Amino acid sequence: MPSNKKLLILPGDGIGPEVMAQVRRVIDWMDRRRSVGFGLEEGLVGGAAIDGEGVPISDATMDKAMTADAVLLGAVGGPKWDNLPFAQKPERGLLRLRKEMVLFANLRPALCFDALVDASTLKPELVAGLDIMIVRELTGGIYFGEPRGIEMLPDGTRRGINTQVYTTPEIQRVARVAFDLAKKRGNRLCSVEKANVMESGVLWREEVTKLHAAEYPEVELSHMYADNCAMQLVRNPKQFDVIVTDNLFGDILSDAAAMLTGSLGMLPSASLGATDASGRRAALYEPVHGTAPDIAGQNKANPLATLLSFAMMLRYSFDLAEDAELIEQAVQDVLAAGKRTGDIAKPGQATVSTSQMGDAILAALDKRAA
Ligand code: IPM
Ligand code: MG
Repeated sequence: MPSNKKLLILPGDGIGPEVMAQVRRVIDWMDRRRSVGFGLEEGLVGGAAIDGEGVPISDATMDKAMTADAVLLGAVGGPKWDNLPFAQKPERGLLRLRKEMVLFANLRPALCFDALVDASTLKPELVAGLDIMIVRELTGGIYFGEPRGIEMLPDGTRRGINTQVYTTPEIQRVARVAFDLAKKRGNRLCSVEKANVMESGVLWREEVTKLHAAEYPEVELSHMYADNCAMQLVRNPKQFDVIVTDNLFGDILSDAAAMLTGSLGMLPSASLGATDASGRRAALYEPVHGTAPDIAGQNKANPLATLLSFAMMLRYSFDLAEDAELIEQAVQDVLAAGKRTGDIAKPGQATVSTSQMGDAILAALDKRAA
């Protein structure tokens, strides 16, 4: 059906295109069976854009991203482009999208599916029922701070520089997203920095504390140093509800949290901007996993993280919670039926291919919608 929902698809590199192909089948299904239609456009990002258009993301693709209602991205990067100068690397395409779309809040849920409790490297009792939401600041901090670079010193040695920097508004806007999420979940927020050694961490803690007192006194707020948080995540992850942290700590802690659930191949993410006067909010959805060059092109990758990212899009960008739940239930169904791609299979367990996982999802959707 014709639609006013404009969706830009950027499959990217490595396993990106093959997992995205399965999600497109689900998008078609949604259109046919649920009358949830999208105006779809596709573009290049990362290594694919370097090869095809000479840059990690072209201005034309950026324009499409800026005007789309939502962007769904696969993954970027790969060994082929590892030796390019920094500013030309595939990752710059993703960072440009985040920065220019001002996607300051990165939501990374770490949810342990019942059927996958055994896939975690942690004891089942530690991860069964796990449901954490990490809110990572995404457009500031050391990823973008100036000065940065590598400079030559008079003695012929070199110095590499990056700058960790946060302002009050940057901290407040991401903390608000985290407080709002906490209110809809377990009402607990843990703010993470290293105020013991970093001034930016001191400011972070002070601003979050002030905001809490002024706007969210009903939410239970705690503070934790990032190194302790890493330790607590593997010691007793279920103590957390929502975690809010900066760009770099969030990058690291979200990978650790993701692995608690058994596989990066299961985890979606949403990157959100501010809501404008017309109610529109820039948003990009992507799996937490990377391009997995070792299995790319072999029809082995797990498409579920990208599919669950699409479900997050339905929920956060289009207010279609019911349709999002339908997809999430279909994922539970196929897992309960024992369908496993290699990343979530136990040793010796039979595995399905990327496209067979797509088949199973469509069959589960048909059954649920019958
Ligand atoms: C992530 C990735 C990116 C990051 C890379 C690909 C630039 O690790 O999304 O977590 O460091 O933010
Ligand atoms: Mg990362």
